[in-house]
Amino acid sequence: MTHVLSAVAWPYANGPRHIGHVAGFGVPSDVYSRYMRMAGHDVLMVSGTDEHGTPILVQAEAEGITPRELVDKNNRIIVEDLVALGLSYDLFTRTTTRNHYAVAQELFATVHRNGYMVEQTTMGAISPSTGRTLPDRYIEGTCPICSYGSARGDQCDNCGNQLDPIDLIDPRSRINGETPQFVESQHFFLDLPALAEALGEWLHGRDAAGAWRPNVLKFSLNLLDDVRPRAMTRDIDWGIPVPLPGWEDQPNKRLYVWFDAVIGYLSASIEWARRSGDPEAWRQWWSTPSARSSYFMGKDNITFHSQIWPAELLGYNGRGARGGSAGEYGALELPTEVVSSEFLTMEGGKFSSSRGVVIYVRDFLSRYQPDALRYYIAVAGPENQDSDFTWDAFLRRTNDELVSTWGNLVNRTASMIAKNVGSIPSAGDLTDDDEALLAAVRGGFATVGSLIQGHRQKAAITEAMRLAGEANRYLAAQAPWQLKKTDPARMETVLHVAAQAVVDLNTLLSPFLPHSSSLVHRALGGEGEFQPMPVIAEVDDLDGGPAYPVITGDYSSAPAWEPRPIVPGTPVAAPSPIFTKLDESVVEEELARLRGDS
Ligand code: MF3
Ligand code: ZN
Repeated sequence: MTHVLSAVAWPYANGPRHIGHVAGFGVPSDVYSRYMRMAGHDVLMVSGTDEHGTPILVQAEAEGITPRELVDKNNRIIVEDLVALGLSYDLFTRTTTRNHYAVAQELFATVHRNGYMVEQTTMGAISPSTGRTLPDRYIEGTCPICSYGSARGDQCDNCGNQLDPIDLIDPRSRINGETPQFVESQHFFLDLPALAEALGEWLHGRDAAGAWRPNVLKFSLNLLDDVRPRAMTRDIDWGIPVPLPGWEDQPNKRLYVWFDAVIGYLSASIEWARRSGDPEAWRQWWSTPSARSSYFMGKDNITFHSQIWPAELLGYNGRGARGGSAGEYGALELPTEVVSSEFLTMEGGKFSSSRGVVIYVRDFLSRYQPDALRYYIAVAGPENQDSDFTWDAFLRRTNDELVSTWGNLVNRTASMIAKNVGSIPSAGDLTDDDEALLAAVRGGFATVGSLIQGHRQKAAITEAMRLAGEANRYLAAQAPWQLKKTDPARMETVLHVAAQAVVDLNTLLSPFLPHSSSLVHRALGGEGEFQPMPVIAEVDDLDGGPAYPVITGDYSSAPAWEPRPIVPGTPVAAPSPIFTKLDESVVEEELARLRGDS
């Protein structure tokens, strides 16, 4: 048993999340976490909403509300959406808690004390017409690295590189199009050059371990070729104060949103421990070299997880060229794996909230089953290359695979048992065909399990569904419905074998399809929930701030990742369908919605 930290990217609280977002960070992290719990590991899955920075300010301004009102509203929406998808966070919190402020400030102060935060005079952008500072994200221009025309002042969405506004070619204000003016401003820079050797050592060690996706590793190694100090403070009035004399009271100087957001993994772990009654419990994931950590995100986040966050940790630990010593938390472990997915597009184009090319999680779930979305993301999502969501493909995957292959297998098996026996039948002597199916399904525990552990979820679910296909072929070949009159004992054996296969396939599929796994479980005579589900709890801020909703859950009842022998005699009633078959008209309806016809 290992302590496994599942560190899931923090969604911005600047609006509801669409299915592209949850395809990147959400479903993959949940499948992994559920599997690792089932395999007996001690999983801590943490995240929260990312509530600082200019994305929040821009949106609050657009809606005519305060940043605080905006994040309160969206934090709740996002919490509800992620729970509805069944994402099993141990704690999903937010970056505006007092706990998070204190942890972020402790990291900043220690990195600074160790000499890895250096003060520099920079050229900050201001609006010539108003004289106000123009935060990075309010500025766009051409990327100096890839020539993408709409790069933002802090990052290029096309090539993923971090930028400073002054790097942009033809910079312009997103508010009114004017050319910003650059004036002197003091800022703290994370001294990446002083941490570069330690970063390289860590990354090459990860390379040698061989587990990272090649594209993520290559991108991260490339970052080491251009290591420059990066500004970790901003001229902005929304964010965490800089915890240094002369800075903490300045209303217009705040920590850079990315500096504090990645610290969320640690602060959420600490918050979880404080709420658990054992305030030191987080150390089992952060101070223990044998613990593992996997970070889940979309590819535009790689830089911040394979360079900035490890650099913050190395600076905190005092492990760079300037030496130093760890702060009050002691030395903290760096990421074991950065698991990044590629992008999901929608009907061939980029998701775009402003152009309406989007489907939000809540709208999706108001019309379709959460496991249908989870299935689509697992089997056709952007695991290793960009992939496209189309309504047509969603309909096919749901009807031809989820309903036909898996749902029908469960249904046929349960209804034949209900009708002909009324309870799980016992088996007589097993034939070679019986043994072959049972062995194939049992073998799935090793193959599917190691694919999930290796973050090859597409291959994992494909293998599990292939085994479901084998069970269907077994039933077709054995034709138990013809045996009722001729050889009822043999019919019972076949139904017993089919039921055993369904029960074990259900275990194999349950990290992907947790909601329906309980329905399948009950269809074969089981009771209660099969996969434990997350809940929303309204909690008080631990340190006196305003109350807020969190996602949490007790996942200790997660089933073990192993075959579960069925018990003959367990009553089985006629089942109702597990998955909803979609009408072909859904595709046209949804496309019309996208076009804005309805
Ligand atoms: N809010 C960022 C985004 O949506 C992700 C932050 S991940 C973090 O792209 F954990 F580092 F915060
Ligand atoms: Zn670029």
